[in-house]
Amino acid sequence: MIKPHGSDTLNPLYVEDDAKRAALAKEAEGLPSITVCSAAAANAVMMGSGYFNPLSGYMNKADALTVAEKMQTASGLFWPTPVLNMVEDPASIKDAKRIALRDPNVDGNPVLAVQDVVAIEEFTDDEMKMMTDKVFRTDDANHPGVAAFNSVGKFAVSGPIQVLNFSYFQSEFAETFRTAMQIRAEMEKMGWNKVVAFQTRNPMHRAHEELCRMAQEAVKADGILIHMLLGKLKKGDIPADVRDASIRKMVEVYFPPNTVLITGYGFDMLYAGPREAVLHAVFRQNSGCTHLIVGRDHAGVGDYYGPFDAQTIFHDEVPKGALEIEIFEADHTAYSKKLGKVIMMRDAPDHTKDDWVFLSGTKVRIMLSEGQSLPPEFSRPEVAAILMKFYQSEAKKQ
Ligand code: ADX
Repeated sequence: MIKPHGSDTLNPLYVEDDAKRAALAKEAEGLPSITVCSAAAANAVMMGSGYFNPLSGYMNKADALTVAEKMQTASGLFWPTPVLNMVEDPASIKDAKRIALRDPNVDGNPVLAVQDVVAIEEFTDDEMKMMTDKVFRTDDANHPGVAAFNSVGKFAVSGPIQVLNFSYFQSEFAETFRTAMQIRAEMEKMGWNKVVAFQTRNPMHRAHEELCRMAQEAVKADGILIHMLLGKLKKGDIPADVRDASIRKMVEVYFPPNTVLITGYGFDMLYAGPREAVLHAVFRQNSGCTHLIVGRDHAGVGDYYGPFDAQTIFHDEVPKGALEIEIFEADHTAYSKKLGKVIMMRDAPDHTKDDWVFLSGTKVRIMLSEGQSLPPEFSRPEVAAILMKFYQSEAKKQ
């Protein structure tokens, strides 16, 4: 199986041993504690799950700045986005050596992880702006990722962590949340070596479904890993449980058995387009995947990124050999009325605009809220039915 990023074996930060974990939880009760921001909690879950291998904890200022600047930690590890525990006011942990990190996303704020505090450093406004510009390619406060990144304080609490649980992901998405270790084990059981990963934060329509099939055929993969984001999204995006249900139905009806693993990971969407695509590649390699599909406007939002910037970054900015996973670059994909099937647009240069079935996200939302069926060329009827139920119940709430 493909090696993890940065080490020969995965070194997840979740404390697997029950007795050690119980002892740590007990110790945590007596430690100074802070309730971390949602992004820091998601970072802990990702480090606990092996996805952020080989990181051993939250980055310090020097690492975060060089990662933002050139996708490299101070010691030269390739890494695409700062992984930080940012706080607004560190007064309560000023002299602490070890602290408990409380979960902002679970009732009662239980302890999620224990951290050794190596440093507490403040970023200047210029440094915050540089990181924002580099990671998001904009500092527009209307960008949801930029807004989140700049709203959680300027003090970075750095140092190694030990993770006690997987936050709400394990309880709320028991069927779907998987760690990188579990995914590797599952693939091994299936006898899969070559695996294509599909990142998604949306329900899967015909284009997504066909992209998976096309990629699988093109690279002759043994299987497909559908790997959906289960963390926080911006307003208007479809909740994870609805997405999960529609994806499960689509796979059940339209894919042969034992060819697709439906899984999810616990991270808040950054909407960082190209940089997030590279992060996606890192953690799919850690999950044992040999290929990642990167299509149109991958991890994008609004029109902050060019439609294929998330592909070009792999050519222009990722050093050769930095990653072992390969990118399957997909062109804009849609249903061709002329050919009667879903294809990549680059494969039909003779087509004009009217030869394709296009629906914007907004149009899809309006149609479903009003109870209109989606065209079967765009969405499988089973998927559309699940989405319609969701949108209609949302419409009733308003
Ligand atoms: S993402 O934010 O998770 O990237 P989404 O779930 O919409 O959003 O997309 C999942 C993957 O499918 C991404 O690689 C994206 O580029 C790709 N994709 C989505 N729709 C299309 C399309 N019509 N044509 C080509 N690629 C697409």
